[in-house]
Amino acid sequence: METAGKEGISVEDEAVDKTIFKDCSNITFYRRQKQQLSKNNTYRALLDSVTTGKDSTKFQIINEVTKIPLLAEVYGIERNIFRLKINEETPLKPRYEVPDVLTSKLSTVRLISCSGDTGSLILEGGERDLKCQIIANPFKIELLSEKEVVISINSLGQLYFEHLQIPHKQRATTEREEQVPADTSQESQEDLGLWEEKFGNFVDVKANGPTSIGLDFSLHGFEHLYGIPQHAESHRLKNTEDGDAYRLYNLDIYGYQIHSKTGIYGSVPYLLAHKLGRTIGIFWLNASETLVEINTEPAVEYTFTQMGPAAAKQKVRPRTDVRWMSESGIIDVFLLTGPTPFDVFKQYSFLTGTQAMPPLFSLGYHQCRWNYEDEQDVKAVDAGFDEHDIPYDVMWLDIEHTEGKRYFTWDKKRFPAPKRMQELLRNKKRKLVVISDPHIKVDPDYSVYAKAKEQGFFVRNPEGGDFEGVCWPGLSSYLDFTNPKVREWYSGLFAFSAYQESTDILFIWNDMNEPSVFKGPELTMQKNAIHHGGWEHRELHNIYGFYQQMATAEGLTQRSKGKERPFVLSRSFFAGSQKYGAVWTGDNTAEWSYLKISLPMLLTLSITGISFCGADVGGFIGNPEAELLVRWYQAGAYQPFFRGHATMNTKRREPWLFGEEHTQFIREAIRERYTLLPYLYSLFYHAHVASIPVMRPLWVEFPDELEAFGVEDEYLLGSALLVHPVTEAKTTMIDIFLPGPNEIWYDSKTFAHWKGGHTVKIPVALDTIPVFQRGGSVVPIKTMVGKSTGWMANSPYGLRVALSTKGSAMGELYLDDGHSFQYLHQKQFLHRKFSFCSSVLINRCADEKGHYPSKCVVEQILVLGFRKKPSSVITHSSDGKDQPVAFTYCARTCTLSLEKLSLNIDADWEVHIK
Ligand code: NOJ
Repeated sequence: METAGKEGISVEDEAVDKTIFKDCSNITFYRRQKQQLSKNNTYRALLDSVTTGKDSTKFQIINEVTKIPLLAEVYGIERNIFRLKINEETPLKPRYEVPDVLTSKLSTVRLISCSGDTGSLILEGGERDLKCQIIANPFKIELLSEKEVVISINSLGQLYFEHLQIPHKQRATTEREEQVPADTSQESQEDLGLWEEKFGNFVDVKANGPTSIGLDFSLHGFEHLYGIPQHAESHRLKNTEDGDAYRLYNLDIYGYQIHSKTGIYGSVPYLLAHKLGRTIGIFWLNASETLVEINTEPAVEYTFTQMGPAAAKQKVRPRTDVRWMSESGIIDVFLLTGPTPFDVFKQYSFLTGTQAMPPLFSLGYHQCRWNYEDEQDVKAVDAGFDEHDIPYDVMWLDIEHTEGKRYFTWDKKRFPAPKRMQELLRNKKRKLVVISDPHIKVDPDYSVYAKAKEQGFFVRNPEGGDFEGVCWPGLSSYLDFTNPKVREWYSGLFAFSAYQESTDILFIWNDMNEPSVFKGPELTMQKNAIHHGGWEHRELHNIYGFYQQMATAEGLTQRSKGKERPFVLSRSFFAGSQKYGAVWTGDNTAEWSYLKISLPMLLTLSITGISFCGADVGGFIGNPEAELLVRWYQAGAYQPFFRGHATMNTKRREPWLFGEEHTQFIREAIRERYTLLPYLYSLFYHAHVASIPVMRPLWVEFPDELEAFGVEDEYLLGSALLVHPVTEAKTTMIDIFLPGPNEIWYDSKTFAHWKGGHTVKIPVALDTIPVFQRGGSVVPIKTMVGKSTGWMANSPYGLRVALSTKGSAMGELYLDDGHSFQYLHQKQFLHRKFSFCSSVLINRCADEKGHYPSKCVVEQILVLGFRKKPSSVITHSSDGKDQPVAFTYCARTCTLSLEKLSLNIDADWEVHIK
């Protein structure tokens, strides 16, 4: 077998070689911005230049030193969103503006200019009392809500804009020559990487010279910020030290370091800030390398003693300054004004789209390994799950399934009959996912390569030839997914007629799409490679992977003539990737610290629109001990994307290889996942239609509870389940923070309950998964687990009703066929609402538009927190029939249990407890 090693790193290496990757000191636009801003850099808005059009208000801003004007545009966008664009007024050529991310339905709101003194202009629009004040000198914008400044822009004077210049060689002494940063001696120009930037053995020659941009935002009253994935860091963003900004630059970092602000795999240039009473968001739409600095000034209390006998006190609000810096493009920034976390989620998805509705199978358990060797291996592993009574839905094949890493082909020695193998899986109601990377082996006899070459579909090098770099297949060219024609052609490769031996149970995994280039700078593509439209790679690096996932999802949809939902997992991503499928956190390590960090990493992805996310269960690199593996399965079972994966040369670790006791614990965790699928699927429906994250940090559900703002070792799955995975070895006791002084929480196994608003200590054994159901919720479950989701379509439901302190509860169930778009086009779905009040549980339709015939019944209802033993329980159907029901009651745990029911899930009924 070919051992695929990367230049400078072998796959066995555990530590990241830091010399391969840059830190801020090696990033010249960062150094330039820092240096320039220490000088005078004042901008003035020319308010007499203001024009107000239908969509935007435009005005010039001018740099007081260079006197070059910039053009600013302020837009009001529906749902209380403001957009600010700043570009050169007359650039030498157009600057890159990120296409394809914003949803087309975006509609602007006319801003009305009102009052303001001579030095300022106030714009109003939108539904609430929001105003945008433009202050002329020095230039500053303030966003006001009810007269209070929420965000100010450029109040620290960090607006930075490098104008396109005529390249040195072509340049006569022109006016523009004066416009380069003041410090222009040859030596400092090299240092500052104006036209050329060196890193290791790599030289980045910049055809357009320096083009970077930057801007500061002060968030008044805020000291809790979240977002800007992907970093292996805490959920709450930290203050950045000088030289240690959060970096957004998609990179393939094998075994990435944790607690680092280095960019890995994907980037979403969007952050949220939260304080008591308000949540806001800043979305910086830029796909070039980006750095974010964060500095919080905590609240201070001054006491004035010289003001007479009564000492006066003044509290200065905390403030967080955020500085965005990008290597290129324009300033295009959206201010999401909230005011609640859920409003901000809606505002962001209004801009970038919501989570794709996943096919149900993809919420089951996925079994992956680099590599399942051959058909025999696949068969044996598949059978292993049945033998050990462990459900799973998807078998995965990594790069070795192909003929020499030529995607869309099969290694016929290992997989002589791919269709036969897929039939075997189909008969088990299971699926197959295979990998398809963006690099294409340079081989004229490989039809994908030959066709792409012939049509000019590869990214080009600056000399005009196809860019060639090294990846798994050896020398490769990279498809230029930024070109719509390439995407259309690539989508076509997934047609059943084009993709030999593929069937409709085969789905796709896009990997290495940062893109990863083993011999490239920082293991990626050189920034001066050329894309469709003549754009340099530097302009759009962070969006390359987004486009591959977009084209793949489109291909899978098209192959079914638009009928079936696709499933595509992508390693790289950008803002809006949620529309195309799932992402995962890449090459983590089989260590406890990586299990622990997976929680904040997934919470951050979740609040930035990407609900369908997960981390490799077990840790990709290395060999987890049994205890770690069990704990990882338990954590993964409650995370949106649930896949076990391991790198090559690791020991086999299928769930049954660690002794009967551990097999049992893993089995229980996976089965618990399958039990919860109705709830999880319903949560995905809400993510899809209403932009509500599946996995939620505590501050989202408890926005008024300061103590919740920094919690990242537990979270809410939906609004009903609080999950606190065990992430430390040999844990026997665990502290769980149960939020909400008015809440009541029920242990989902023992049914013991606690009042919220404090931390409880609970004992844990290796089979304990600390999960608590929130009083006031109804969680729909499946009472019988099958071999895979396909076996459970008609299996009965159960309802776990957890009563609030007032004795009530609410919950929902969404269901449809689990795989097609009929829910959308034909409204073939069922949306039910369960409410419990005054000892009556009611099942009603939550959305009359939907219809889906279901044979399923509710066979079990568990009511937690029911204070006294009932004398009778009666079901009441919509045709007026009443029927007594047998029940058991446990006075110790206050649990009422109704079994052997047969209540149609799709019918209205009531259960009366007397
Ligand atoms: C890197 C991916 O992160 C990993 O999951 C995969 O197994 C290898 N590439 C091989 O394809």
